[in-house]
Amino acid sequence: MIFNCKLKKVVDDTYDIEIGHGLQDKLISDLKNGLTGKKKFAVVTDSIVEPLYGRDIFNRITDAGFKTDLFVIPEGEKSKTRQMKEFVEDSMLEKGYRRDCAVIAVGGGVVTDLAGFVAGTFGRGVPFVNYATTLLAAADASVGGKTAVDTPLATNLIGIFNQPDKVYIDIDTWKTLPRVQISSGLAETVKHGCLGDRALFEYLEANVEKVLENDVDACEFISEHNCAVKYNVVMKDERESGLREILNLGHTVGRAIETVSDYRLYHGEAVSIGMVAQARLGEKYGYISEADRLRVETLLSRAGLPVTIPEYIDKAALVKKLYTDKKVRDGKLRFVFQKGIGDVMQFGENNFAKEITENEIAGIIAGM
Ligand code: GLY
Repeated sequence: MIFNCKLKKVVDDTYDIEIGHGLQDKLISDLKNGLTGKKKFAVVTDSIVEPLYGRDIFNRITDAGFKTDLFVIPEGEKSKTRQMKEFVEDSMLEKGYRRDCAVIAVGGGVVTDLAGFVAGTFGRGVPFVNYATTLLAAADASVGGKTAVDTPLATNLIGIFNQPDKVYIDIDTWKTLPRVQISSGLAETVKHGCLGDRALFEYLEANVEKVLENDVDACEFISEHNCAVKYNVVMKDERESGLREILNLGHTVGRAIETVSDYRLYHGEAVSIGMVAQARLGEKYGYISEADRLRVETLLSRAGLPVTIPEYIDKAALVKKLYTDKKVRDGKLRFVFQKGIGDVMQFGENNFAKEITENEIAGIIAGM
């Protein structure tokens, strides 16, 4: 006998991304107005963001009359682990959290990736919102619903697609970011310019120092353009069946070098080196001119980012690590390439990544 379980789903994961300055009051009024449909909130933050913004948001939620607790993880990429997810989950269980709650992630990409994953599996799924406090989270991590943890063997391979109920991008919080973190976020911003927004790239060529100096107009401009590039891709291919792979530009070498450096390099610093690697290989294939490739390298440098591989990196280990990339198919490396400035190469219907040989990329890495 066969039972045919009809489970066709129509899902509406529409949500707002609000960009502004000091959005804490807005968050509280949204929660009061039933944004998540819950009245109990697990605020997840890290040890750096907690005294700056996490505790304040926790206090405001308490003052609004809701039940809430603060869950603080150690800052840094090394916290994006299964063990830390377990720590947050167990702490929530101990405090009596069940399905009657929502998760509020307050922080950068590590916090939003981890908390979004916790929310997606806690009680088989509870709502969550992201309150992004870094340029990196604003440019990339907090938008698009990718949540994950890293493992010793690969980054971001254990996770789920889980869209938040809302994303708050509070530009005022960037004032407390060290410059290296602004630079790190700028790597994802340059990436967006390279792959889909020539105007953003040219704006950065004219104004990148203004972003480093926290100029309000410049920060607003890049926030809006980052979001537009990202959500336009995500809306077309949420589950990365093709187009969304373009957001991986620079990440094949980038993710590998980040791991091989044992996270001495910030995510954006590693992506910057990866951007240079794809542009240099792309130049060999004729996908980008030498002049445009140099523009990319110059802009990344001006953003305070590395464009060469630090000498402490073992290049043979780096090449091996490339195989942990999620775009690998049948054991073959696949790379996304920019097409000039503001576009990407397409290699067939719904295929935006080209198979390349290990020798080709090893040659580029050797020369960096
Ligand atoms: N960070 C790449 C993506 O969201 O697809």
